[in-house]
Parts: sequence; structure tokens; C-alpha cells
Amino acid sequence: MARQSLQLELAERPKGEIEVGKTFRLRKVDAPTEADLKEGELLLECLYVSLDPAMRGWLDDRRSYVPPVQIGEVMRAGAIARVLASRSAKAKPGDIVTATMGIREVGIMPEAAVEPASRLPLDRTGGKVTDLLGVLGMTGLTAYFGMTKIGEPKAGETVVVSAAAGATGSVAAQIAKIAGARVIGTAGSEEKCRWLKEELGLDVALNYKDPDFKEKFKAATPNYIDVFFDNVGGEQLDMALGRANKFARFVMCGGISQYNAETKSGPTRNFFNVISQRIKMQGFIVFDFATEYGTALKQLAQWLGEGKLQRKETIVRGGVAAAEEGLQQLFRGANIGKLMVEVKNPEEVSRL
Ligand SMILES: NC(=O)c1ccc[n+]([C@@H]2O[C@H](COP(=O)([O-])OP(=O)(O)OC[C@H]3O[C@@H](n4cnc5c(N)ncnc54)[C@H](OP(=O)(O)O)[C@@H]3O)[C@@H](O)[C@H]2O)c1
Repeated sequence: MARQSLQLELAERPKGEIEVGKTFRLRKVDAPTEADLKEGELLLECLYVSLDPAMRGWLDDRRSYVPPVQIGEVMRAGAIARVLASRSAKAKPGDIVTATMGIREVGIMPEAAVEPASRLPLDRTGGKVTDLLGVLGMTGLTAYFGMTKIGEPKAGETVVVSAAAGATGSVAAQIAKIAGARVIGTAGSEEKCRWLKEELGLDVALNYKDPDFKEKFKAATPNYIDVFFDNVGGEQLDMALGRANKFARFVMCGGISQYNAETKSGPTRNFFNVISQRIKMQGFIVFDFATEYGTALKQLAQWLGEGKLQRKETIVRGGVAAAEEGLQQLFRGANIGKLMVEVKNPEEVSRL
């Protein structure tokens, strides 16, 4: 019998939160085979698929930095995959690669969309294959460029990172520590705050669900904020504007608190501090820095190898079928560090 491949397709556009069993549909299709490959293509078997807050935005039919996922299309997602067959010089069968192959078990990708893992010194850094989606993947790169190119923290400055225990935030916060800044992270649980303080060495970690959060935030920023790396938006962004130093840099990376909201809310009370405190507020998309990925990855890998960067990952088991609920959980803070789904244990033998 032909090998089957399970895939997650968009069934309908959610209005608010993703609804398990409604937003997506699981479908089994005949897996493509080596015989289907054209010149320059690779047949890939997914090992891990990335779950990202941005996925919620890709479900809305509106202008953005990438086209929306269409109804019936396989949900877009970055993945770590193993090459099953290849008609490309870029990778051979058995090689590990990364590719935006979507949430599916098996797929064919053009060589231009495939990056061999061998470009990264995983072995020399004590790195593991899952780092390709985290600290040595898109979220690590996002943290690197946002912090070094836009935030540009200097020794002694105060840096605040929201969603600091997440994949992007945790790396961004540590990069600011490496630069010699005083770093404050916000996160949604005591366990996350302990990790930030005790293992990542942040100066202060604040639980935004604490009833005294506002007072604690103010007390933690006596010299105001020089760099705010924002992953959350909404109320936390407004609070950071209220505590911004003159000429502060606001790195607008994401606004997860608003992604599911049908009516968006943003900075209100303190917005005009942008003017009174001469704040530079800049949004960015990691792809803007694509030509510099190589340099950034080298630096991230070096820090990882030197033990200057710590990372965690939260791996959801259960394969493609578990991805939908995993994505919903991302918006409930279920992860520490990078969230991904194990689609296939890399120790298992592959099968064409
Ligand atoms: N600009 C770019 O190119 C780019 C690239 C990648 C990611 N991003 C953005 O970076 C941010 C982080 O992404 P990531 O992939 O690293 O995810 P992540 O931080 O690993 O996971 C998301 C975290 O957000 C927090 N969160 C969820 N709902 C929240 C809410 N209502 N209020 C406050 N915190 C909430 C949760 O942690 P808590 O327990 O702390 O709530 C959750 O663990 C997102 O905004 C994403 O869109 C931007």
C-alpha cells in the first residue's frame, strides 16, 4: 500500500481563538514518492514542526508580510526534516534540513526553500537538532536582529523584554545581558520567572499575572527603560511607554496579546510619550535581515558553545494530529522556550 501522509489544512478562518476541530481539518493523503520528484526538488519527511504566534495572523485574509493561508491549504510552518530522496545537489538522502514544508508528514520542496543543517556547527556548540527551530532558527535570529540592530543596548542601560520566557524573548533578554545591560523580563508564571532569574541570569523577572504587577514594574525601572523589546503589545506596551527613558528604543517584534482579539487594543494612556520622550519605535520582520543570517547564526552558535546562551524547548508529542491543540496552547502560555511538535522521532528509521 502507498505510504500515507497526514496533513493539517485550514478549514475556516477563526474570528477569535483557534478552535480545535473547527479551524483546521486533518486529512490523510497518499504521500508523494521519489518518482514524483522533478529536477531540483527534494522529498522530505518531517521530524519537528514549529508552532509560532505568527500563524494566527496568517489565518486572517488581510494584507501582511506574507500572503494568508488559503482555505484547504496545508497550514504553513517551518520544520526540521530528513531527506528521503533528492534530485538536488543541496542535500542527499538521510541529511537533516530545515524547510517551510507546512504541517504534514511528507512533502516535496524545491531546493531554494531547503536549508541543509550542515551549515550550522551544531556539534561544536553542544547544539541539538531542535535548535534549528529555536536558538539557531527563526526565533533566535529574530531576537538577534531585533536586539542588536534596533535595540542596540549598551552597558548599564535598562532593557525590558516582554514574553521573556518564550523562544524569542529568552534569547533577546540574554543578548541584552551579554551587552552588559540591566535586564528585566516579564512572563506569565512563577515557574517562568524562576527560570529567567535563576538560569538565564536576568536581573528582575516579573509575573504579569501578579495583582501587584504594575507597581512592581514601576519599582523595577527606577531609571526608566532604554530598550523595550516587545513581544506582547496591549497593556504591557502601554506600561513600558509610561516608563520610557528619553530617546528609548522600542523594538516592535510582536503583539501576541492582541492576535486573537476581535477588537484590538493598544497603547492609549501613554502613547504620546513617543513624542514627549522622543522614543524611536521600530517594527521589523526577521526576513528583512536575510542576507545577514550567516553572520548572526555564527555568533549565536558561538554564544551557545560558550554557555552564554541558555535555551529550553517544549516539545508536543502526538505528531501532526497534536499540532492544532499545541498551537492553541501557545496563546495560553503553555511553553517555556521554543514550542514545537515532534512529528517523527529522529531515531526511527525512515521509509520511502
Ligand atoms: N517580527 C518578527 O520577525 C517575528 C519573528 C518571530 C516571532 N515574532 C513575535 O515574537 C513574539 C514571540 O514569538 P515566539 O515564537 O518566541 O513565541 P513564544 O514567546 O515562545 O510563545 C508565546 C508566548 O507569549 C506569551 N503570551 C501568550 N498570550 C499572551 C498574552 N495575552 N499576554 C502576554 N503574553 C502572552 C506566552 O507566555 P506567558 O506565559 O509569558 O504569557 C507564550 O508562551 C510573538 O509576538 C511573535 O509574533 C516576531
